[in-house]
Amino acid sequence: MQLIKRQSKVATQSKTKMFECPEVLGAKHSVPLLDGRYVPQIFLDNAASTKPFKVVSDFLQEIQPYYSNIHRGTGFDSHFCTERYEEARRIVGEFVGWDSDRDVVIPVRNTTEGMNLLANTINFEAGDRVLTTILEHHSSDLPWRSKAKVEHLPINSEGQIDLAELERRLDPTQGRVRVVTMTGASNITGSVLPIHEIAALAHKYGALMVVDGAQLLPHRKLKMRHHSDPSHIDFVVFSGHKMNCPTGVGAVVGRRDIFAAAAPYQTGGGTISTVTVNSVTWAAPPDRNEAGTPNILGLLALARTIQVLEAVGMDAIDNHERELTALLLEKLNRIPQVKVLGSSDPEAVDKRVGAVSFTVAGVPHGLVAAVLSCEWGIAVRNGTFCAQPLMKHLLKTDQDFVCGSKSDDGNADGAVRASLGIHNTEKDIETLVEAVANIAQKQWKGEYDQDADSGEYLPRGFRFDFSGLPGFSTEPVVNSPIPTLHYQQHLPLVTVAGIGALLTTLWACFG
Ligand code: ALA
Repeated sequence: MQLIKRQSKVATQSKTKMFECPEVLGAKHSVPLLDGRYVPQIFLDNAASTKPFKVVSDFLQEIQPYYSNIHRGTGFDSHFCTERYEEARRIVGEFVGWDSDRDVVIPVRNTTEGMNLLANTINFEAGDRVLTTILEHHSSDLPWRSKAKVEHLPINSEGQIDLAELERRLDPTQGRVRVVTMTGASNITGSVLPIHEIAALAHKYGALMVVDGAQLLPHRKLKMRHHSDPSHIDFVVFSGHKMNCPTGVGAVVGRRDIFAAAAPYQTGGGTISTVTVNSVTWAAPPDRNEAGTPNILGLLALARTIQVLEAVGMDAIDNHERELTALLLEKLNRIPQVKVLGSSDPEAVDKRVGAVSFTVAGVPHGLVAAVLSCEWGIAVRNGTFCAQPLMKHLLKTDQDFVCGSKSDDGNADGAVRASLGIHNTEKDIETLVEAVANIAQKQWKGEYDQDADSGEYLPRGFRFDFSGLPGFSTEPVVNSPIPTLHYQQHLPLVTVAGIGALLTTLWACFG
């Protein structure tokens, strides 16, 4: 694995150390600016999706010729892929400290699908409640709403919930709490919740503990802990695309008995043991919960990504990102027009990850994001980040948001988010802060118009030129001869089989 060594100066301490980052594809490729220049992109939109590790992309290239369906075929490739798929399942489970007897790993497309899977698997009774927080992404809030009464715990100015309030709400006299589901880290404020303390409280009152790990697992170590430990996590859900894995895959890891007690959420091939025209007996989990052909290469890529993250070390990644987050907060705090949403304390980075959302007084969030992209080559996200209840709380507005609508003062309906990833550097932070400081002074070059439909700001007369970049072609594809793969270890067998067949034929003709 190629490691890029870079010096990382600790912002809050005086020591200097090296952080070794594996190559991230496209992390610094050139992007065009409004003035015609090209600059290396500064990619600070990692909370949305990360770019893939080169080593994982290479691994996919290597393994693709062997691609075949799993658990079904008798061919060599099918056996090979089945073995690799089950190895990958184990690597994913171990990453979060599963108990392979009592937990299952169920591959899903992403955290959203994982949360829907859980909400449609866990059995609810009339009157059941689900406790969550105002911090949640829509994907870990909405799936529960049709299953039970969902209550959102408030947060304080530091982006944290009150555990005493949580315990009050767990009181069964108000109705059974079946599930406590909380984000491990907010995609807007970066707040990291004390999930094990929360789990201990949930279990004290007989509730299941679900963790949305989408924004936490790429940045910080999470272990589910032993089932006998009251602070154990029952289910963790996460996405590969936020942890430098190239394809659409994620996983739900959690209680086998809960999956075994429920009919599958999606039914179809692979989920059954016996089917007649009148009846069906379901297979045991995880097969029961993997309808149809799964994303085989996706799970393999996820497992390889996990190996890369673990080779770097989750603690090293965590430390690196804490340093950069502290630096970013410290520098943003010095710009009077900037307001960071949630905690802006550089000393409190142990309670947050590097998703930092902010507004710039007097400059609409969409305009800030557009200037960052078109004039500085900095990729961020702006808007409400699929967490409107939280944004409503943070922006202190009574107004309901409407996606894509134009706002009057430009900052009542959203913010800008810079979100850090493994490949980011101090230089990235410095350039971002320089750009934001200029924007706060209303210094930019282009004239920007807001699109009436999307609400997006675009520089007048400027469009990104994608010509020359990879795309689709109507050119006929020239077929090359079907390549022959040589499985070294099988050649002698093939030879022996061939000689055997020849001798048999000769014996039949002349014997
Ligand atoms: N959930 C992703 C984000 O927060 C897409 O940007």
